[in-house]
Amino acid sequence: MDLPLTGNGRLRRIVYSAGDIRRRVSELGREIGEAYSAEDDVLVLGMLKGSFIFVADLVREIPIPIHVDFLVAGSYGNRMTTSGEVRLFYNPQTSITGRNVILVEDIIDSGNTLLRVLPLLLKGEPANLEICTLLHKRLIRLPKDARWVGFDAPEEFLVGYGLDFGEDFRHLPYIGAM
Ligand code: IMP
Ligand code: MG
Repeated sequence: MDLPLTGNGRLRRIVYSAGDIRRRVSELGREIGEAYSAEDDVLVLGMLKGSFIFVADLVREIPIPIHVDFLVAGSYGNRMTTSGEVRLFYNPQTSITGRNVILVEDIIDSGNTLLRVLPLLLKGEPANLEICTLLHKRLIRLPKDARWVGFDAPEEFLVGYGLDFGEDFRHLPYIGAM
């Protein structure tokens, strides 16, 4: 398979194939289903834009009733390193009070995004808040770490399956390194 080339650069290799991802997402969905009961009021909250494909695949593998919503945060822009500055556009219409919230991330890198977003979510007084991330670079220890992790990711800039570099590569069905 030819690795895609865009104005923003070229992939060096495929890190997780579409099949690798499918199998792991299916396991995560089952594990999440086992952690709650059907009566629990579970809200899957996806962090846009990066998690949009992961959330779409994950929720179809969760065998209990859930609700799905999204929030928007961003920090990277057109670069490969975090600015540390996180813009958060949170949708306050979605009440999380008393609910079992699962925050879904595409990747935990510097942890800055979660460090900013977690206190804001906790202010909404959810009954319980867990984090599910497809990828974790394991660079930092968060005050509240992810309960469900798809893959421990290499320290490279990864794109595809929702992850972008300057908005390129999001649509790839696999994850590659640049
Ligand atoms: P953090 O705040 O550094 O943990 O990263 C937060 C966000 O930055 C992630 O949700 C991604 O959208 C983006 N990001 C971090 N690392 C990567 C990467 O390797 N590739 C693409 N996007 C990344
Ligand atoms: Mg991004």
